[in-house]
Amino acid sequence: MIKDKVLVEDWLVACPASEVSEKPIQVMLMEERLVIFRTSEGVHAFKDLCIHRGAALSLGEVKNECLVCPYHAWEFDSNGDCVAIPQLPEGRAIPKKAKAIKYACIEKYGLIWVNLAGNEPEIFPFPEYEAEGYRNIIWGPQEVNAKPPRIIENFLDVGHLAVVHEGSLGTNSHREIADYQMNWEENGRIYSDEIPIFQPDPDGTGDAKYVYYTYEIIRPFTVRFTKKDKETDQYFTILLTIRPVDEQTSIAYGIMSFSYGTSNSDEEIIAYQNAIFAQDKPVVENQKPEELPLDLQVELSLVCDRVSIAYRQYLHQLGVQFGTA
Ligand code: FES
Ligand SMILES: [Fe+2]
Repeated sequence: MIKDKVLVEDWLVACPASEVSEKPIQVMLMEERLVIFRTSEGVHAFKDLCIHRGAALSLGEVKNECLVCPYHAWEFDSNGDCVAIPQLPEGRAIPKKAKAIKYACIEKYGLIWVNLAGNEPEIFPFPEYEAEGYRNIIWGPQEVNAKPPRIIENFLDVGHLAVVHEGSLGTNSHREIADYQMNWEENGRIYSDEIPIFQPDPDGTGDAKYVYYTYEIIRPFTVRFTKKDKETDQYFTILLTIRPVDEQTSIAYGIMSFSYGTSNSDEEIIAYQNAIFAQDKPVVENQKPEELPLDLQVELSLVCDRVSIAYRQYLHQLGVQFGTA
């Protein structure tokens, strides 16, 4: 397991909830091989390793609310306790050490979250996801050969919109970014002022106009922005969250929430987002150093980089080691 106390004790995204049925799946998180499965009680995550002979439990099946090992069919209940060993003669006790290693696991906002320390801290609020009238779409998985903080910071970067996403999220003629402030509230909320961004076609009607972005830093690897159209009072939010797979690989997931109806299907919206992400990917995969420098003197920041500066300060305050320098 990648050693990082802050991340290990936090909820980290594992996969979309729709990927977890009764059929167990293997998910690599922080270099830890997990098996995730569903019973009538909900979702569960164990270390994907049977204590008997090291088989991958994810190759097994769920039967009678238990995870059954594929090799000798030992049965583990949702607490990880072994409750049946078919090879034992009748009346022989199950060894006390026969257990699977269990992690905390919850299903929330259409995603599965795992806490590798086994803690169950309160998960961050996401009012749009639960608000009536919002349409939510899960985006991802998108694999990236980069460390999570570089991917997150790219998402929080205002200045690149009119360059990397020229013609869609910004235009050549409007590259300058007005000054804005970051807000650090006592309750821990960290978010930007509204930042005006001129977009050629923000709502698919072909009308170029200013939209207003608010960026929010939620957790070390979970952030979001809200795009507001002041003319129509419509909101669009993307929450981005990253699964650290191992030292080289990350997987991005998103939740897109619309306050308004659009004629586009989920598939069309996801395809558009994939195309935007494909523009960011080569940039992010080639940034050096791969670790995000938390010493603000190491790279040269502008006033318009205040969101990313705040993100670096936040990671520094929390003491996040993985993916930072
Ligand atoms: S390896 Fe799992 S039951 Fe034998
Ligand atoms: Fe981008």
